[in-house]
Amino acid sequence: MNTRTDRPAQDILVHTEEGVTTITFNRVDKKNSITEAMYAAMADALEAAEADAGVRCVVFQGDMAIFSAGNDIADFLKQSAQGAAQDEEERPVWRFLRALAAFPKPLVAAVCGPAVGIGTTMLLHCDLVYAGDNAAFSLPFVNLGLCPEAASSLLLPQMLGYHRAAEALLLGEPFLAEAALEVGLVNRVVPPAECNLLAQTQAKKLAAKPLSALIETKRLMKAGQAAQVRERMREEGASFARLMAGPAAREAFSAFLEKRHPDFSRC
Ligand code: COA
Repeated sequence: MNTRTDRPAQDILVHTEEGVTTITFNRVDKKNSITEAMYAAMADALEAAEADAGVRCVVFQGDMAIFSAGNDIADFLKQSAQGAAQDEEERPVWRFLRALAAFPKPLVAAVCGPAVGIGTTMLLHCDLVYAGDNAAFSLPFVNLGLCPEAASSLLLPQMLGYHRAAEALLLGEPFLAEAALEVGLVNRVVPPAECNLLAQTQAKKLAAKPLSALIETKRLMKAGQAAQVRERMREEGASFARLMAGPAAREAFSAFLEKRHPDFSRC
């Protein structure tokens, strides 16, 4: 059996077995919120999985109680204080999102508990998504003084319809697994204890299929909007960087870390 385990960063585990690379969020004490180092580790893992002919499928998973609380807010606050970097597009988060959106082989996700911000938007680029019945999806970008990323401002209205997408993106209120199933964001809802196993089972089925046919089928399904997705991600990235340096974002990040309600009365 071809098995190897790499630890590019302790908070992200990468394990490859029988043609399936599994990327596990492993920062449970911080609700699997994602730091720059974690984005870089995931981008590296995707690049390695793409280049390795022995890897046919990638699975993302968290644990039974939490998928991911989204971007690490302390990292956000640091970036907000620094202002937009000159090489903004090379930030690990954008590297990760570009690698994810362009990943040619099948991507599977197992989502239990909260999936916040990028924890939800990354799923728009996965081919199969399985959810625990405790999954809660939320896109609180506006509540943080930010705007959507991962081309979610394009893909969510297409998937949910404009008004439901507006409710999710403008109000930022969580929606639960059954609602995600109804709109087609997830394939199936199962008890949390079964979710990661189901994702692995489906990934192994994919890994047994001819890779060239998988890649070509995925490419064809996405061909109509691949360029649009890339362009929207660039546009969102520029807006995100500008908003990140603004007073609303700084207030929201400080409020979260100080465990108080934000005051946007002057933003
Ligand atoms: N960034 C940094 N730290 C985070 C975090 C994040 N996105 N989400 C959670 N944490 C930390 C908390 O600060 C807390 O740390 P502490 O124990 O040192 O005080 C710890 O993780 C536990 O979080 P807590 O809020 O107490 O857990 P909870 O079970 O009550 O709630 C969430 C879980 C995910 C609903 C809640 O943590 C949350 O809303 N997080 C922020 C999500 C967010 O806005 N992400 C950005 C998206 S763009």
